Amino acid sequence: MHLWKRALLLAAPAAAVAVAMAVASSSGHADDVPTEAQFPKGEHFLLPPPSPIFADPNRSIENEHVAYGIVGDEVLEQPINYSHRLHAGRLQIECEYCHFNARKSRHAGVPPTSTCMGCHQYVPTDGRSEQAQADLALLKDYHEKGEPVPWVKVHDLPDFVYFTHKRHVRAGLACQECHGEVQDDMTVAYRVSELTMGWCLNCHKEHPSIDENYGAQAELRRAEIKDCWTCHQ
Ligand code: HEC
Ligand code: HEC
Ligand code: HEC
Ligand code: HEC
Ligand code: HEC
Repeated sequence: MHLWKRALLLAAPAAAVAVAMAVASSSGHADDVPTEAQFPKGEHFLLPPPSPIFADPNRSIENEHVAYGIVGDEVLEQPINYSHRLHAGRLQIECEYCHFNARKSRHAGVPPTSTCMGCHQYVPTDGRSEQAQADLALLKDYHEKGEPVPWVKVHDLPDFVYFTHKRHVRAGLACQECHGEVQDDMTVAYRVSELTMGWCLNCHKEHPSIDENYGAQAELRRAEIKDCWTCHQ
């Protein structure tokens, strides 16, 4: 068997183990996992950015990008042409194998190069398209330099909103409820949900997991997650 196929076979059980470990360590303050350093949030402005004449030279296109609110199906350019359809779809790698912080912290995060290289040190590059070879060479390069791939953030709520993956994932919500059929439809990720306050509130009003998880306390929990303070603390 090719080594990369074995690495791939290992990926699914490894993800299950990672999940089990995350659940086992759930009692601590695991929300403190410092994922922001690895994939920093952009700056956000309630008002449109000032005209270029007054613009701060430290502001860049990346952090000017408003990654919340209503969107079209804009696909942002990424440093490497990574494909969800290939990895999460055809190769059936679980979302949490790469986004392994989703269950234990605020941020799902993006995988470090070591997660990619766990397989890619074995996946042969010859015979691939020129583009793929260039992408894989770039990946290896970042890995050897010990630098993260500078992925551009696609989802990014303003700083005055509190959102946490941990609570949603542990309540049993599927990634797809908020991010769409990533494994079927996307190469690099794009936004399918509105990321507006109305979007959050609509789901909080009616999501069936609340009845399942809270039973007689469901009304109380629904009132709690409707409260301004829950999301603006
Ligand atoms: C669990 C194993 C695994 C992990 C983890 C993994 N890959 Fe892959 N990747 C593969 C395999 C296997 C292929 C080749 C699939 C084929 O040729 O059918 C591939 C192919 C690719 C290709 C080439 C696609 C093409 O058109 O030939 C790129 C680029 C790529 N991966 C990038 C990444 C990046 C970036 C990461 C980390 C975010 C990553 N991969 C993580 C297994 C993995
Ligand atoms: C209840 C809706 C919801 C669910 C369920 C959800 N996400 Fe998210 N996701 C969001 C929102 C909202 C953001 C933007 C967060 C921010 O800017 O602070 C986001 C951001 C992200 C990001 C960008 C990096 C980060 O963490 O901010 C990744 C990656 C991601 N989600 C992956 C996942 C994966 C994988 C799952 C399933 C394990 C998942 N999400 C489940 C709503 C959701
Ligand atoms: C092999 C690793 C890998 C797997 C498996 C994977 N992703 Fe990703 N994901 C990435 C990488 C790398 C990025 C950054 C590039 C991009 O934006 O597409 C990313 C980005 C994302 C983003 C956008 C993050 C942002 O910037 O806001 C979302 C949402 C997301 N993934 C959801 C999912 C979901 C849902 C699944 C499972 C169906 C999944 N991913 C499986 C590697 C992976
Ligand atoms: C697809 C449904 C869905 C969407 C969309 C959604 N949520 Fe939630 N959210 C839930 C559910 C269900 C819970 C209750 C989880 C529990 O208590 O088990 C929850 C709970 C929360 C909590 C409470 C966390 C805690 O620690 O008590 C916060 C904060 C939150 N959501 C913020 C947001 C924000 C902000 C958005 C929009 C950006 C959002 N949610 C979008 C379903 C959703
Ligand atoms: C479930 C989460 C959630 C709850 C509960 C919530 N908000 Fe928000 N709020 C958001 C999100 C997400 C945004 C940013 C996206 C947007 O502007 O729609 C936002 C934006 C805002 C803004 C800025 C509007 C703008 O145009 O930029 C104000 C003001 C606000 N909320 C006030 C409130 C008040 C007052 C309450 C209580 C009645 C409340 N919010 C409850 C999630 C929530």
